[in-house]
Amino acid sequence: MSESFLLGNYERYALQVESGEGCYVFDPHGNRYLDMISGIGVNAFGYCHPRITAVLLEQARRCVHTSNLVSHGNQEKLAEKLCRVSGLERAFFCNSGTEAMEAALKAVRARSAPGKSRLVALRGSFHGRTMGALALTGQPELRRNFVFPGAEVTYVEPDDLSALAAAIGEDTAAVVLEPVLGEGGIIPLEDEFLQAARRLTRAVNAYLISDEVQCGLGRTGKYFAYQWAGIDPDIVAVAKPLAAGLPLGATLFTEDAAQWLPPHSHGTTFGGGPLACRVAVEFLDMVGEVLPAITELSELFLARLEALRHKHPVIRQIRSKGLMYGIQLSVPGRPIVEAALGRGLFINCTQETVLRLLPPYIVEEPEMDEAVRILDDALTTAQPPEA
Ligand SMILES: Cc1ncc(COP(=O)(O)O)c(C=O)c1O
Repeated sequence: MSESFLLGNYERYALQVESGEGCYVFDPHGNRYLDMISGIGVNAFGYCHPRITAVLLEQARRCVHTSNLVSHGNQEKLAEKLCRVSGLERAFFCNSGTEAMEAALKAVRARSAPGKSRLVALRGSFHGRTMGALALTGQPELRRNFVFPGAEVTYVEPDDLSALAAAIGEDTAAVVLEPVLGEGGIIPLEDEFLQAARRLTRAVNAYLISDEVQCGLGRTGKYFAYQWAGIDPDIVAVAKPLAAGLPLGATLFTEDAAQWLPPHSHGTTFGGGPLACRVAVEFLDMVGEVLPAITELSELFLARLEALRHKHPVIRQIRSKGLMYGIQLSVPGRPIVEAALGRGLFINCTQETVLRLLPPYIVEEPEMDEAVRILDDALTTAQPPEA
């Protein structure tokens, strides 16, 4: 298929997806692939889950779009659910993770007084591709060429408590972090680090923003990953699985943080439409039902991956939190991803040497066995020589 009319910004894998069911996708020839990356953490209930399909069709027959000139009821229901499970007080809806971060940053910017506008972020973090979110992203190669000069961000190594303490001062407007760095290679932050971030931001009247776009909404075994550390951020961003594949992001605010985005200060045409919000209400109900099982599922999968580590010396480390797994290799990961794909397993590679698995919450033991068997095979045959 010709890609000559597409912008050349993606380097795609050799798979064309025609349809999906449960944990599997199918190409146009009917070949089946076990999907353990879930559309990068979006398809948390796999493909074509009957409950999702039913509400999608039902709402599509009523109305798909209204704009934010009027209310349609589903936003209010979803906002209430998100506030109840997060402990925050106000929700704004948009279309993506990066937009959820933009709303967070706009609130911080509106609040920042002269001499109090510095942001603190983590090295290796990822917050999105729009200009504001990109200015924060702790990966210089992604920022290069794009960030306007003058963005005031101090980067701190994940879990470096003394660097965090040194970076936060009276000039800090906000600290922004992913409790589990996703694109950065699945790096779960220590509870102690998250608690210190909360304590230190409070001491200087700065906001704490939790970017839960990848690690939130059940993926780690709690609704939000910050809940493992028992902290309460001022602003939380979510997106990816929220509407089970329809584009939907949300920024959650405390009442105090919400006051910085009053009428006319922010908005979107599509964000929080009736279709996406209806599906998201169903999604959150479904998360509530599976949440108690996620930690056990996570351990079952981890035990199998650990067995692989003992067999393959190129696996340096396996990092995980809930159903997020990063297999740190000593060699480039892409050839292994491609070898796995050729054998019917779809995962991806981040930071060049980390195999990333974000299985759907509906994964069961036979699928875990299949994934590990194919990975084992791919690691055995596709292993480039040790760097
Ligand atoms: C932690 C985090 N924040 C923000 C984003 C940006 O989300 P989107 O691609 O929906 O704009 C991502 C995307 O991977 C992410 O992982």
